[in-house]
Amino acid sequence: MVVVRDLIISLKEAAALLRGETLSFFNERFRRLFGLKEPYPPASELLAPFPEEAGRFEARRLVPLEPPLILTGVWLPLGGKDHLLILWEKEEANEMTEEKLELMGKLAGEIAHELNNPLGGILLYGNLLKEDLPAESSLHDYVDKIIKLATRGRIIAKTLLSLAHPEEGPREALDLNLLLREMYELVSEYRALRQVEPIWELAPGPVLTRGVRSQIERVILNLIINAGEAMEGRGRLFLRTGRSAGEVYFEVQDTGPGIPEEIRPRIFEPFFTTKKDGKGTGLGLSISHSIVNRHGGRIEVKNVRPTGALFRVWLPAVEDEDQGTGPDHR
Ligand SMILES: Nc1ncnc2c1ncn2[C@@H]1O[C@H](COP(=O)(O)OP(=O)(O)O)[C@@H](O)[C@H]1O
Ligand SMILES: [Mg+2]
Repeated sequence: MVVVRDLIISLKEAAALLRGETLSFFNERFRRLFGLKEPYPPASELLAPFPEEAGRFEARRLVPLEPPLILTGVWLPLGGKDHLLILWEKEEANEMTEEKLELMGKLAGEIAHELNNPLGGILLYGNLLKEDLPAESSLHDYVDKIIKLATRGRIIAKTLLSLAHPEEGPREALDLNLLLREMYELVSEYRALRQVEPIWELAPGPVLTRGVRSQIERVILNLIINAGEAMEGRGRLFLRTGRSAGEVYFEVQDTGPGIPEEIRPRIFEPFFTTKKDGKGTGLGLSISHSIVNRHGGRIEVKNVRPTGALFRVWLPAVEDEDQGTGPDHR
């Protein structure tokens, strides 16, 4: 928990570490927000409703009574009875700064770490149980479910971990034209894309950037899959690349409903998803964002007419090493 304490102190937001309902550690901003004096009240007396599930929530401040204040927060399980609570005042919360995104990513990684081991245990024992179960047992279905869900949990934990500790690899010259084609091939049979018509508008010649291949591939995959999901499997998918002033870009544009104005500021937050029934993890865009950031690039998003969303990812250009051409080469 030492890391978490350091983090709480370094945060500009009000933040506290809780064990059960007991405040076991908090920063100055948290103390001032609730006007805390010893003996400290249980945390459930500070907010209504008190968060129960991991993720973002909104709640009313209960103490002090005046001025009334709606807070936005994140509630993060840290294993056992420990939770981390971070709070913002509402207006602030709308503005998701780079810094906050980065921080949420780190925290997500911490949680993933805590979850990974117990999930591994569940999987192991689930598999042992399955092996020892008589073939005619009616319990196979249940055991299969346990294994399946634990596996899903592990995949999520692994994705989260990669937010905090991205897999590093060598940076190499990458041709966006090639990567885009390869990644599309990889997922074109995926249910959400099977009936989608791809429209290729690639800039001629290799469109070169430098980066970690697996990471850039992941960004492309995330955007293509999101596009497919937004179109519910039917529509047109525009895949483009281009160059401009020392930068290269690729675009993924769909003919889905586009992104509603209200949620636009939140789509890059970890865990933010509008997909129901566990269909979305809300991690795709946040991971893509942090990858692109680390590569010195940026992601632009806009809605297009008549309908659809367009994601454009800018990355630093590198010269075509084979042709050895100058900076003005197009
Ligand atoms: N192409 C798109 N069209 C419309 N909405 C999108 C698109 N891509 C992403 N979004 C919105 O952004 C949210 C977050 O996306 P993401 O981080 O990939 O998580 P997930 O796909 O698991 O929901 C989605 O739930 C959706 O509301
Ligand atoms: Mg996604």
